[in-house]
Amino acid sequence: MDLINTIRDSIRAIPDYPKPGIIFRDISPLLQSATAFNATIEAFAQRYEAEGIDQIAAVEARGFIFGAALAQRLGCGLTLLRKPGKLPGPVVTERYALEYGEDSLELQETAFTQPQRVVLIDDLLATGGTVAAAAKLLSRTQAELVEAAFVITLDDLPGEQKLRELGISCYTLCRF
Ligand code: PRP
Ligand code: MG
Repeated sequence: MDLINTIRDSIRAIPDYPKPGIIFRDISPLLQSATAFNATIEAFAQRYEAEGIDQIAAVEARGFIFGAALAQRLGCGLTLLRKPGKLPGPVVTERYALEYGEDSLELQETAFTQPQRVVLIDDLLATGGTVAAAAKLLSRTQAELVEAAFVITLDDLPGEQKLRELGISCYTLCRF
């Protein structure tokens, strides 16, 4: 519980960013605090260290920060889900809707060609579009998605409900 309070207290609220009426949850102070960043990775590690996780799948860009540190802490591998055009070789692609327009994520076809237990990680769950697309990519491989993990879930947006309806278990360290 102490870990969670340390993490939560390190997330800065920026009112009216990126537009009026929106409160942006800024993870910069969390990352700048050795104590808070360590608490974040430790809280994830406590949940997953006995789960036999083979790979962390991390979403570009902010998901990479937590995914890399957690993979190192758990002693497992890290697989990158990247924005389009960044990964070499044959890739699988999933598009998802943004508030204005769309984006996509890609995964190399050489990933998860054997069954592997995977935690999917991102910094924040808002509408759920990003991680739903990420989970769809994983479902086209032999990955076994154990859980989707977030530092922050925005409770006034439908992301968690959307993921649960897709049969995806969600874990979050903080709710705002
Ligand atoms: C942000 C955030 C999550 C996503 C959550 O990423 O890091 O990945 O939005 O939103 P959703 O649940 O509505 O899909 P963004 O692509 O804006 O920026 P980043 O590249 O800095 O991670
Ligand atoms: Mg992101």
